[in-house]
Amino acid sequence: MEKRQELYAGKAKSVHATDDPDLLVLTFRDDTSAFDGERMESLARKGMVNNTFNAFIMEKLQAAGIPTHFEKRLSGTESLVKKLEMIPVECVVRNIAAGGLVKRLGVEEGKTLSPPTFELFLKDDAKHDPMINESLAETFGWATPEQLDEMKALTFRVNEVLKALFEAGGLLLVDYKLEFGLFKGQIVLGDEFSPDGCRLWDAKTREKLDKDRFRQGLGGVIEAYEEVGRRIGVHFD
Ligand code: ADP
Ligand code: CDP
Repeated sequence: MEKRQELYAGKAKSVHATDDPDLLVLTFRDDTSAFDGERMESLARKGMVNNTFNAFIMEKLQAAGIPTHFEKRLSGTESLVKKLEMIPVECVVRNIAAGGLVKRLGVEEGKTLSPPTFELFLKDDAKHDPMINESLAETFGWATPEQLDEMKALTFRVNEVLKALFEAGGLLLVDYKLEFGLFKGQIVLGDEFSPDGCRLWDAKTREKLDKDRFRQGLGGVIEAYEEVGRRIGVHFD
């Protein structure tokens, strides 16, 4: 496999073509963004930590029967993935109230959400990733009703697998965002699962061990990501 030209440089990852038209290389950079890219900082080791963390999670999900784009980790910061036609819709599940939900609805942070909620957002930084719904997605052609049903079902299956995994490490999976795409017509989980795109709290102290440490200027961001990884069995280089 040969890494070829860069196709896209996102806020935190770069995407390269390969000599196989069905495969891409994702390079996890140290760049860290918040507030739709308004705040950017480089955090040493983040690329390696998130690439390693993501590889571990994607393998767990694949083993649980959830189709993912993940093929293999190529190096500290690079992974080989299937090239997907990305669906520009972000799927968010929340087990505990935090972040945007608290701001929007004024519910108390930390409230258990039963049943867990499911929300859709349009992936569009310029529009600040607005909240959307199934009707808007269908009308504007972002995803079909069938694709949305499948994305929702898969997002909740991910919840079952990962809630248990994190619980065993003394962690609460508060919420998370997933992105899906199409590979030969099939809905497949893409992008990444790392503490950049989810909230994880210590189950006893409720200490925040995710990207909120960066958003809220709490410090110790990468140390927290590594701590979470270690607790669920991730080995970092
Ligand atoms: P952003 O685009 O939000 O700044 P990143 O910096 O993480 O995000 O860039 C990675 C980009 O690669 C995202 O736009 C994501 O949707 C896209 N992507 C992730 N996985 C795949 C894949 N398997 N095939 C094609 N594109 C992908
Ligand atoms: O985090 P924020 O307050 O902006 O939004 P949210 O709706 O509370 O986010 C819910 C979950 O999805 C959090 O774990 C975020 O980290 C994640 N998310 C993300 O990774 N990328 C986005 N564009 C939006 C949310």
